[in-house]
Amino acid sequence: MEIIIQENEEQAAKLAAREIRALLLKKPAAVLGLATGSSPVGVYRELIRYHREEGLSFGQATSFNLDEYLGLPPGHPASYATFMQEQLFREIDLPAEGINIPSCAPSEVEVFCEAYDARIAAAGGIDLQILGIGHDGHIGFNEPSSSLGSRTRIKTLTAETRRANARFFSSEDEVPPHVVTMGIANIMEAREIILLAFGRGKAAAIAAAVEGPITASCPASMLQFHRRVKVFIDEEAAGALQRQDYYRWVYEHKPGWQRA
Ligand code: GLP
Repeated sequence: MEIIIQENEEQAAKLAAREIRALLLKKPAAVLGLATGSSPVGVYRELIRYHREEGLSFGQATSFNLDEYLGLPPGHPASYATFMQEQLFREIDLPAEGINIPSCAPSEVEVFCEAYDARIAAAGGIDLQILGIGHDGHIGFNEPSSSLGSRTRIKTLTAETRRANARFFSSEDEVPPHVVTMGIANIMEAREIILLAFGRGKAAAIAAAVEGPITASCPASMLQFHRRVKVFIDEEAAGALQRQDYYRWVYEHKPGWQRA
């Protein structure tokens, strides 16, 4: 794992966006794994800027979103489909047919999930997966106790996650209890992973994910098995890491040829 601690969220988001830009320049038909929540918003803002100011094109790219609430129509203001439209898709040139979000009717969930995994495989697999992290260490909507070998499927949210996400709804009761999420195995198959976390509230989850034991009780800890993970965090989210000084030293002394 490469732990990149930056002074603030904006700087970290800029560095992470540079990685995505480098991938798209090298491979215009890249397959991107996208996430929702507040953590990737700064990265998306920066990608939009690259698109507008430098003409960075997503015209040949494909995207797969991690997760979606089950039972919310795509046009619902709190759906992840709406979130993605507003935060990224409507501002860039990613073609509609290249956008994949795990949105389906509750009665179709099993067939849909299998087809979603098949679509990822048919696209050639995910080149770069963007992740946020929940306070309990969830990635996508893989809550603690998720199988570390899981694939796209239905999950039930914890009370804590429903509370944390209530800010996007008019009340906590309105947050759907069920979701569809890519599994840990899907995430692990991505060729590269970027994990983003900002603020003091994420410090414990980041420490558990990076320095804790690998356990289904902290699904993000599974990322320790991945060969190409970059963790972009701010000072506050880095606050509970034991080896902060080492991570900073490693980053500052990275050989020039390893830099993007
Ligand atoms: C939700 C999403 C996750 C996201 C998490 C943290 O549960 N399903 O993908 O990582 O929220 O969100 P935020 O970045 O807003 O803290």
